[in-house]
Amino acid sequence: MRLRIGKREKKNPIIVSLDGLGRIEALNLAEMLSGRVWGFKAHSLIDRCGTSVIRVLKQYGNVFADPKLHDIPSVVGERIKIYADAGADFITVHASGGPEMMEQAVACAGESKVLAVTILTSFDEGRCLEFFGLSINQKVLQLAIYAKEAGCAGVVSSGQELPVLTRKENGVSDLLRIVPSIRPKWYKTTDDQKRTLTPKEAMKQGANLLVIGRPLVAAPDPLKALKKILKEISPR
Ligand code: C5P
Repeated sequence: MRLRIGKREKKNPIIVSLDGLGRIEALNLAEMLSGRVWGFKAHSLIDRCGTSVIRVLKQYGNVFADPKLHDIPSVVGERIKIYADAGADFITVHASGGPEMMEQAVACAGESKVLAVTILTSFDEGRCLEFFGLSINQKVLQLAIYAKEAGCAGVVSSGQELPVLTRKENGVSDLLRIVPSIRPKWYKTTDDQKRTLTPKEAMKQGANLLVIGRPLVAAPDPLKALKKILKEISPR
């Protein structure tokens, strides 16, 4: 069954990436932003605290477990079950792990939805060509087609590939499009992200949900930063 992204998510499509935070800091931030965002993404937080933190986080919103699994199918399936049993709404695998791996992930996910990470947003065109022998758009589309065939609910990709992912003729436009590497115009820090887009532009181009880490988490006032982003997305 596909997760529906309705009107509520269009107004409030933010997933806060709780990177670099300890348990207390992360839960305090989740409590502060609860009800104002779609949910919370945890990766290092789960490594640090164990999957039990997923249930705690669920008090504050939807939970996106982001282990980006990439292994042989049986091992990925075993690990997916752990995140699914803990109640994660979304769980990620690397699409480059292949069709059998993604199929096994979906088969083991129960009520959770599997998202396929395409090309990391820290890759630029040159790095993608060097590693995969294809342009970013070509490789993202190829991986998205495999993800769809394997039964994944959506893909994680930069906003720059949205035109490829939304084009009907490409056959993947019914997948959820989860977009990280979101950089509001006022966020001036440069970092490891190469393919960025503003929140407004990403929504305009067809993102369903936006993953935002540092621009919120590192802000002196995360609530103020969130309100600014939400206003930019829907001014009224
Ligand atoms: O801090 P920032 O907004 O760059 O955080 C982006 C988050 O999205 C990170 O947690 C990272 O793991 C995740 N992500 C990404 N690029 C992908 C997939 C996930 O940046 N392709």
